[in-house]
Amino acid sequence: MHIIKSSIQFAKQEYAKHDKNHQWGHVQDVMKTSLKLAKRYPKTNLEILKLAVIFHDITYKKYATHVDDSVKTAEKFSR
Ligand SMILES: [Fe+2]
Repeated sequence: MHIIKSSIQFAKQEYAKHDKNHQWGHVQDVMKTSLKLAKRYPKTNLEILKLAVIFHDITYKKYATHVDDSVKTAEKFSR
């Protein structure tokens, strides 16, 4: 399966566990803004950008640790 498709499939399950402000819709909002901004930067690797957006809040139990926790989840997924 393509990395974006498999990431979305995985991420939707993970975001469903979060509070109402960090559901899949949040990723969709961030994706829309990110892709809009990327148009101004034609050298942007869109696959990397999309993966970053998909995983940016993937583990959100505590605000203070959510960045590091999300990185760990992304690393585990990518192995
Ligand atoms: Fe976010």
